[in-house]
Amino acid sequence: MTSLSPEHDGHHGHHGHHGHQHHDNAGGFDEPDMAELLDLDAEVLHAHLTDVTAWLATSAESAGDIPVRRLLDLGSGTGTGTLALLQRFPDAEAVAVDASAPLLHRLRDKAQAQGVAERVRTVQADLDEAWPDFGDVDLVWTSAALHHMADPDSALREVFAALRPGGLLAVVEMEGFPRFLPDDLGIGEPGLEARLHELTSHEHAERVPHLGADWGPRLTAAGFTVESERRFAVDLLPPLPAATGRYAQAMLRRLRDALADRLGADDRSVLDTLLDSDGPDSVTRRGDLTVRTERPAWLVRRPTV
Ligand SMILES: C[S@@+](CC[C@H](N)C(=O)[O-])C[C@H]1O[C@@H](n2cnc3c(N)ncnc32)[C@H](O)[C@@H]1O
Repeated sequence: MTSLSPEHDGHHGHHGHHGHQHHDNAGGFDEPDMAELLDLDAEVLHAHLTDVTAWLATSAESAGDIPVRRLLDLGSGTGTGTLALLQRFPDAEAVAVDASAPLLHRLRDKAQAQGVAERVRTVQADLDEAWPDFGDVDLVWTSAALHHMADPDSALREVFAALRPGGLLAVVEMEGFPRFLPDDLGIGEPGLEARLHELTSHEHAERVPHLGADWGPRLTAAGFTVESERRFAVDLLPPLPAATGRYAQAMLRRLRDALADRLGADDRSVLDTLLDSDGPDSVTRRGDLTVRTERPAWLVRRPTV
């Protein structure tokens, strides 16, 4: 373990990437696209995130925990979890860790805008490499990041070591991308979006094989005891959050670009119509969108003995 020095901060160079020229954790995204997508996700799924942090705080309180003073957000991205947790735990300070300097930069800007910059430290580190020493940590949060790690089981053992005895780890994961379109939209059966997700699941199986894993047994194998396990179902109907159209557009654009030559001409043409911001059928102005997804979550503890 290396010690946590200011040089590990995103302000100062890029540490922990021994030999990695470009860390493609964003799954082929340009960083600005990724930042935008993460921020749109935070905006549209705000109520969902509030539910998750409430579940976490209630579970911690009912277990008679000492206050959360220091928390770690692993794979923090632009800080969706970090900022929500700072609100939820007003006495806490946070360390946000991510491999991406631009995403951490965005996180700091948001923390500044929300008046909590003093309570957040960012650390740029590749969690597939040697971990910095984060000091005594009461709570670790990792959302939609664990499946990106090359060796998540090793990462879980590192989390175990970083937590104080009795400390909590919240893992929030995803099984796929949210869906927005009516089932019958597109030419043929199943509809366009189901087809896109089907193709994407093949791509995911190759590129992010840990996506959709059952993390419970792997958390237990790392030494944790499972306190609570929940599946958070998101099923938003109109009136939808204002950013929903832009979120759907960013997500569908990502699918179009990732699947490119595997899409048939009909699907590409329908997608282009949906993605054309100026067109009458653009997802940014349609009235028939919904937001459906599921996010499984585990709350586990490092035992005291
Ligand atoms: C899908 S994003 C989730 C971001 C954030 N937790 C959220 O819920 O909005 C995954 C994040 O994990 C980061 N990440 C992936 N692999 C990583 C690694 N090995 N070390 C550090 N960060 C990593 C990516 O840079 C990205 O910001």
